[in-house]
Amino acid sequence: MACFSWLCVCNNNQRRKQVAGPSSSLQSINRTRSRKRRAEHRAIVPTTSSSSDEPTASIPTNNSLWSGSASSEKSIPQLYEEKAHNLRQFTLKELKFATYDFSKLLKIGEGGFGSVYKGFVKNLDGKEEEVVAIKRLNPYGLQGHKQWLAEVQFLGVVEHKNLVKLIGYCAADTESGPQRLLVYEFMPNKTLDDHLFNKAYPPLPWHVRLNIALGAAEGLLYLHEGLEVQVIYRDFKASNVLLDQEFRPKLSDFGLAREGPTGNQTHVSTAVMGTKGYAAPDYIETGHLTVKSDVWSFGVVLYEILTGRRSVENKRPKNEQKLLEWVKRYPPGSAHFTKIIDPRLENKYSMNGAREIAQLANFCLSKSAKDRPKMSEVIDILSRVVTYEELDGEEEPHRLSTENEEESETESEFDLELQSVRRRMLHLAKLRESTGVIAKRRLALISKVGVGVSL
Ligand SMILES: Nc1ncnc2c1ncn2[C@@H]1O[C@H](COP(=O)(O)OP(=O)(O)OP(=O)(O)O)[C@@H](O)[C@H]1O
Ligand SMILES: [Mg+2]
Repeated sequence: MACFSWLCVCNNNQRRKQVAGPSSSLQSINRTRSRKRRAEHRAIVPTTSSSSDEPTASIPTNNSLWSGSASSEKSIPQLYEEKAHNLRQFTLKELKFATYDFSKLLKIGEGGFGSVYKGFVKNLDGKEEEVVAIKRLNPYGLQGHKQWLAEVQFLGVVEHKNLVKLIGYCAADTESGPQRLLVYEFMPNKTLDDHLFNKAYPPLPWHVRLNIALGAAEGLLYLHEGLEVQVIYRDFKASNVLLDQEFRPKLSDFGLAREGPTGNQTHVSTAVMGTKGYAAPDYIETGHLTVKSDVWSFGVVLYEILTGRRSVENKRPKNEQKLLEWVKRYPPGSAHFTKIIDPRLENKYSMNGAREIAQLANFCLSKSAKDRPKMSEVIDILSRVVTYEELDGEEEPHRLSTENEEESETESEFDLELQSVRRRMLHLAKLRESTGVIAKRRLALISKVGVGVSL
């Protein structure tokens, strides 16, 4: 599966080229919640059992996981303690039984963190069997345990239709080393990554793509604003968007999630973690993490949804390998814009909708974190675009000669935008000459509105 999993993006000096965002800036997050200083964090995962097959001690004795929430009223571990009874504690024996001893035939995926198996566990009443996904972490060092613990605690606390449900966990010591497993609700339709990029699957229709984006945005909004404590997801990417029976999205993988800044803090300072191609450049550069880092990653995925291309594709020609640099050459207001739209959509998409999604993506990809929209604003825009019913995606505009095309691709975004405006004005002028009085008035109005209008 995804190859950049749990990648530590270490090059702090690396500065990526930005996709230009709109000039208007939004208010930065106005955080009014006052949170008391929390003195210490208590144990949250069950304590040691002498049997090698029983859950073992997994108690965080330091606060490193939760350093960002030193002043929160309630931290994730506290909330976890209140809700922990919701999670089941499995023995390794139970999970071996559930997966036919981790049979290769039941393996459904592999990430940087371990293998995922389909499994069958009995309900608590022991009567019915439930299909689950069981993630078994690779033998690991401290970091693996830390991420497992974060996942148990965050998913033990959150509850939202767009976040995957954690059913339980297992921590056991065996002769071959410590075992850490997670048991999730089973999501039958793989991930957004599979459906966008794996040609073995039929292409996702336009409206399904938009609804997936909208659901994922709602999941992020819940994390950012819907809990007592702010949560920064930190690993938003297409392979972490699981799809259910109806292709509704659920975010998975909370191993890198962090509590957000509190009190007067504007950000959380942390080692830079995430996935190459999705992490916000300001975060990579400074290690300063905010919810706006998630908004950046969301912008990247919006472009993946529009184009059907991954954020980084090393097999493409050099000037097309980095998605954000490539799409910069085809801004939403330009005549070339349709060139970036996923050809697998076969023009069955809303033209205006696609332009607005690209504008929204650019907004999310604003260079300065504070200029990026809040997820609530992202949702407002997506909710509107989802209602556009016409699938009037254009044919690719007439291709220029190869020579001209190469030339035009090196032109700046501004030049392209300008050319597009000029073309539209000329077009409008021609139309004015050949239309009646009423139409003339309408066109005059349209030309006043300017760049954003496509005829
Ligand atoms: N709850 C689930 N239900 C069904 N399949 C799942 C579930 N969770 C994970 N999978 C499958 O397992 C695969 C691997 O998931 P995993 O999260 O370990 O890796 P990844 O997202 O591809 O990479 P990364 O390690 O970077 O997150 C997913 O792509 C998906 O196909
Ligand atoms: Mg994942």
